Parts: sequence; C-alpha cells; structure tokens
Amino acid sequence: MRVSEETTTWTPERVAEPGRWLAEAHRVVALTGAGISAESGIPTFRGAGGLWKGRDPMSMATPQAFARDPEEVWEWYDWRRGLVLGCEPNPGHQALAELADLVPDFLLVTQNVDGLHQRAGSSQVVELHGNLFRLGCWACCGHEETRVDHPLDPRPPRCPCGALQRPGVVWFGEALPEDAFPRAHRAAAAADLFLVVGTSSVVYPAAGLADVALAAGARVVEVNPQPSRAGVARALAGPAGEVLPALLRAAQKFRESG
Ligand code: OAD
Repeated sequence: MRVSEETTTWTPERVAEPGRWLAEAHRVVALTGAGISAESGIPTFRGAGGLWKGRDPMSMATPQAFARDPEEVWEWYDWRRGLVLGCEPNPGHQALAELADLVPDFLLVTQNVDGLHQRAGSSQVVELHGNLFRLGCWACCGHEETRVDHPLDPRPPRCPCGALQRPGVVWFGEALPEDAFPRAHRAAAAADLFLVVGTSSVVYPAAGLADVALAAGARVVEVNPQPSRAGVARALAGPAGEVLPALLRAAQKFRESG
C-alpha cells in the first residue's frame, strides 16, 4: 500500500515523537536497504537508476547467471566492489552507529552487501544478504575469505579446494546465511521499536521482519522518500541522511531533558 507523501513528509515536528519513542525504548531493531546507501552514491536496485553498469541487477544476482558466465558475473561484482570502495558512509549510516550507544539493546539488520554500516562504526551488523568483500566457494567446500583489494582478479580466483570462488552474497533462490535470519527474527519479535529504512520491502524474508515486529506489538517507524508500509506508527518521508540524524537528535534531546 502506498502512503500519501503529503501526509508523511518529514519535519522536525514529526520526528519529535518517534525521537521520544527511541529514547524510551529498550530493544530497537533497524532494518536497512539500498536506500540508506543512495546518498553515498550507490544506486538502489529498483526504480530509476536501477540499472548497474547497463545491467539489470536481478539478472546477474543468480546462481544460474554465474553458472552460465562466471567471468561476466565476477567482473560485475568486482566493478561493484570498486564502486563501493570509492564511496563513504553518509550521515544516515553514522546516525545508526550512534543510536547503538543510546539504546540498551540495539540490532542493525541490513540487506546491503556494501559494508558501509561497519565503516560508519556499527559493530553489531546482521548481514542478511552477505557481503561484497567476502568470497565463498562455488563448490560449497565451506572455505570463505574476505578481501578488500580492488581490482581483485579479472576472473573468479580459485578456492584452495580447486573450485572457482564466488562472491559471498546471497543470490536469488538461495538460502540466507545460517545464523542471520533467526537472529534478526528473534530481535524483531522482541523489539519495542522497529525502524525500516530505505527498503522497498518486496524481497522476503527480510521484508517480513517488520510484520513480525508489528504483530508482536512494536512500533514501526519507516524512513523512505516513498514510504510504502501499512500499519506503521510513523512514516517519515525523506532521505535517510537527513531524517536519521534528526531522529537521533530528537532522541538525545529527550534523554537530556528527562
Ligand atoms: P530497492 O532498490 O528495492 O529499494 C530501495 C528503497 O530505498 C526504495 O523504497 C526507495 O524509495 C528508497 N530510497 C531511495 N533513496 C533513499 C534515501 N536517500 N533514503 C532512504 N530511502 C531511500 O532496495 P532494497 O529494498 O534494499 O537482494 O532491495 C532488497 C533486495 O533486493 C536487495 O538486498 C537485493 C535486491 O535484489 C539481493 O541481492 C538478494
């Protein structure tokens, strides 16, 4: 369901109350998507600008694409690594890193594979879809490694077991990393407040986490220039790089005055 933008546009007044909820909450979960990295210069997946280097991400992010043409898919992921290494975390990432110090129990769950939350200082990050800088084994021997050099190799390198290495991300049709989703689900079910930031909420199971939180009685606050979730306590239409710092300031102000 689309929510009217007129009634949701963020203002300092509309942020004050969710700021208080944040300041009072014990358990907060933030779920982020590609939109939080948009202001760092990384394109989102859907909508305008959803073509990456002339390719549709949805046609490249599959095991079938890698099986068909490992070099093309590898080259595309290496291009993405280079793109991300040339970008910096933005005030939205930084505000979430600071929120972790404000809330007694805070968990950051991301669908992003760019590592910008960690570079902004977030230490506890559940990466539902893996990470661009991690390499895995295409033959599933279990070997994993992290490499931040770029360009990496023109072709997929070899795993110690002899098979090709693959990007350590979750492709369409694959299971999420073993511990990631159960941990996110448990936190969502126990949250007082659930922030949904910069995601179109169409890819499951991540998109269902806000529903888990809602069903368990949490307040859900959405931050997105085009809010789309039903049942939220507050939709704040605007860029995460503006809204999240304002939300953090509102929560800090409430704490200081209380
Ligand atoms: P999408 O590209 O589907 O959605 C990005 C969302 O960010 C949209 O709702 C935009 O309105 C919003 N947005 C744009 N600019 C923003 C800003 N400055 N601040 C806040 N929000 C902004 O990306 P995701 O929802 O993350 O999965 O996509 C989910 C998954 O689909 C990805 O993790 C990826 C993709 O296929 C895999 O690769 C498995």
